[in-house]
Amino acid sequence: MIYQVPAHAREGAATPITSLERYRERAARAANDPDAFWLEVTKQRVAWRKSPSVGLEGDFHGIASGPLSWFADGELNVTESCLDRHLEARGDKTAILWEGDEPGQTRRLSYRELHAEVCKTANALAALGLQRGERAILYMGMVPEAAIAMLACARLGAIHSVVFGGFSAEALRERIRDCGAEIVITQDEGLRGGKRIPLKATTEQALEGCPSVRHVLVYKHTGADVPFVEGRDVWWHDVVDSASSSHEAVIVPAEHPLFILYTSGSTGHPKGVVHTSGGYLTYASYTHATVFDLREDDVFACVADVGWITGHSYIVYGPLANGATTLMFESVPTYPDAGRYWEMVERLGITIFYTAPTAIRALQAQGDEFVTRADRSSLRVLGTVGEPINPEAWIWYRDVVGEGRCAVVDTWWQTETGGIAISPIAPATPAKPGSATLPLPGIQASLRSPEGHALFGPARGLLCIDHPWPGQARTLWRDHERFVATYFSMVEGHYFTGDGCRRDEDGYYWITGRVDDVLNVAGHRMGTAEFEAALVSMDAIAEAAIVGYPHTIKGQGVYAYVVLQGEDEIDLTALNATCRTQIGAHARIDRVQVVPGLPKTRSGKVMRRILRKVAEGRGDELGDVSTLADPSVVEAIKGGFEGD
Ligand code: WTA
Repeated sequence: MIYQVPAHAREGAATPITSLERYRERAARAANDPDAFWLEVTKQRVAWRKSPSVGLEGDFHGIASGPLSWFADGELNVTESCLDRHLEARGDKTAILWEGDEPGQTRRLSYRELHAEVCKTANALAALGLQRGERAILYMGMVPEAAIAMLACARLGAIHSVVFGGFSAEALRERIRDCGAEIVITQDEGLRGGKRIPLKATTEQALEGCPSVRHVLVYKHTGADVPFVEGRDVWWHDVVDSASSSHEAVIVPAEHPLFILYTSGSTGHPKGVVHTSGGYLTYASYTHATVFDLREDDVFACVADVGWITGHSYIVYGPLANGATTLMFESVPTYPDAGRYWEMVERLGITIFYTAPTAIRALQAQGDEFVTRADRSSLRVLGTVGEPINPEAWIWYRDVVGEGRCAVVDTWWQTETGGIAISPIAPATPAKPGSATLPLPGIQASLRSPEGHALFGPARGLLCIDHPWPGQARTLWRDHERFVATYFSMVEGHYFTGDGCRRDEDGYYWITGRVDDVLNVAGHRMGTAEFEAALVSMDAIAEAAIVGYPHTIKGQGVYAYVVLQGEDEIDLTALNATCRTQIGAHARIDRVQVVPGLPKTRSGKVMRRILRKVAEGRGDELGDVSTLADPSVVEAIKGGFEGD
């Protein structure tokens, strides 16, 4: 008898997963020997100059003594995986497909062109003095040059930190100072939905009090007149266009930081999440190919902004590492009308589309006609990310946008995870509307009680990850102690996500949202502490507390309780003007309630549970308030509830 090796037994860790059975085998293999699994994945996905021989070093229990590492003896430059290695087979293939603010305004950069632009920009940045290990802040809109600048930094072994173009001068300044950036890369103006975003003018304001910045590289996009400081400021076209298009990539060890991305936490200042070169790239590439069932002729459209982690992993690094055609979209879903996405799908032949539940809900509310008037037959996979998706929106996405024939992947992950962690695998995992389904092979998720005990079977608890994975954040920029305190002190020896979650009888995960003081408004992650700091900086406000409440389009709305000093009333517009200058245009309060005092325990801690219940319109379900220092404030708070 001839023994036939079953096809799947010959599969490597990077072979597509096409059934639930294969998924289970792969997940079991990854869990049984994570090092072997990830070494195999990385060798298939990353162009190493020196191939790594070790997987994980360190663990979650020892995290307090220093960051753990993956593939530590490997050496690479990330851009060689994203560019150089594609030149031979994919030189003429479109790498970046840019759609500008106006419909039909497009630019295509082939892999060969992108490679040349990145090399030129790297040479220009080197001439401006940017060196390996130094930081460059990028404050840009959605133009190809944003991706080019990220890759040019990576080419030099410099560390980029992209700041979303909606952030204010103060927020930008805070980030420039925290990472000690040597260079800021920006553009004259951004464009979004017909509006101009004054990126250079805001940079100028931010730079007051930032002595570390030697140069500002300015890309001319709209041609507007902008402030320009001779000597310090340099026009992109003056230095990049004339630079050489060959550049020898700086080879770095696997754990060399690739970028810092600031994100909101439950307390204090934004946290500078640090991602490394080898592990991050492995994970971005692996998850992008696996979850979306990537094929060579796909047109992949992630309509996020490069200022967020979704843009880093699924506009730039994942798709380019995989040699895909990736869309960069400058505009907004409702410009010039609510049919923009689907008109673009038809015109550009988009096959995989990835957006946020907020956008889906907002578009659903505009009616089906905007969708159905466009031909969406090119679409194969639809993804969502950023917040829990309600089943109604999920079903509309599948049935109306995807005509019931596309796979829908609800992808759960975080800035800190580096890439998708819990999600259906498009061709393999039977979906359930509203569930992120199952952890990807290589992710060991668990639910835990507040005391840290593992919960088994169907359960509700704190979502944790039990074993390290290559894409995870290694530390917070120059604050490892805070890293350990934030993620590893809730449950010792386990990564705590900050999310609550339910697991059903099939082992499917249903994310219920943050259990800490982080808000998720329209897919934007914001700390209540940042809002509160902005409000109490106002003369009229003595104290402030911010909570989220359910919002039909944005997922969560922002509800402010304020205690006034010297005034009887306060105008929402005034509050929002302050939030805009201190945080950014995306930080908006929806409702404000003036209260005589905040509900505090005798030790002075604000009882947010009470504030959340009232903001949700459930003031009758407060339960025990006897631990309050002054229970009478509760009646006043309930009485002044600002509902619809
Ligand atoms: C939430 C965005 C439910 C979650 C990539 C997480 C989600 C936070 C989902 C991270 C999802 C993200 N279902 N909730 N599919 N995806 N979240 O760092 O609360 O901006 O902790 O990363 O968004 O937000 P961040």
